[in-house]
Amino acid sequence: MSDEKPVPTDLLTVGEVARRTGVAVSALHFYERQGLISSTRTPGGQRRYARHVIRRVSVIQVAKRMGIPLAEVGEVFADLPQDRMPGKTDWRRISERWRGRLEVRRRELERMERELVECIGCGCVSLRSCRVLNPDDELGTDGSGPRLLPEIQPDEQG
Ligand code: FES
Repeated sequence: MSDEKPVPTDLLTVGEVARRTGVAVSALHFYERQGLISSTRTPGGQRRYARHVIRRVSVIQVAKRMGIPLAEVGEVFADLPQDRMPGKTDWRRISERWRGRLEVRRRELERMERELVECIGCGCVSLRSCRVLNPDDELGTDGSGPRLLPEIQPDEQG
């Protein structure tokens, strides 16, 4: 029996990538089908992943947590070299881009919150005048509450 410790190979099995990242094998296969990660094949047809794939999967996980769609992850990955780990400069560029995206989303959430506050105590839930239900409604800019009440006909008045 040899005293030598096994030398880690440069290539990882899908199970090793799953264990190191905490991501399910099925998700890794999905990311590969989406072109976000890539593998080579052994002569027996098994997938093998370069070690830097772990970093890519981590970036995907960050994106998922922030609600960044995979299509956008693909866009930033398209600018990364396939043969090395994304470096500090890469990550700075990606995180600045995503920070901008979060800022846009934060402003959108604040706008929706303001609109919802206007609904509190109203209760009209009107497709015509409620800005939450109908954000493009011009009458909604006049304030909360219904704007177009049906005309009461003389014979309907009590
Ligand atoms: S419920 Fe939204 S404006 Fe009345």
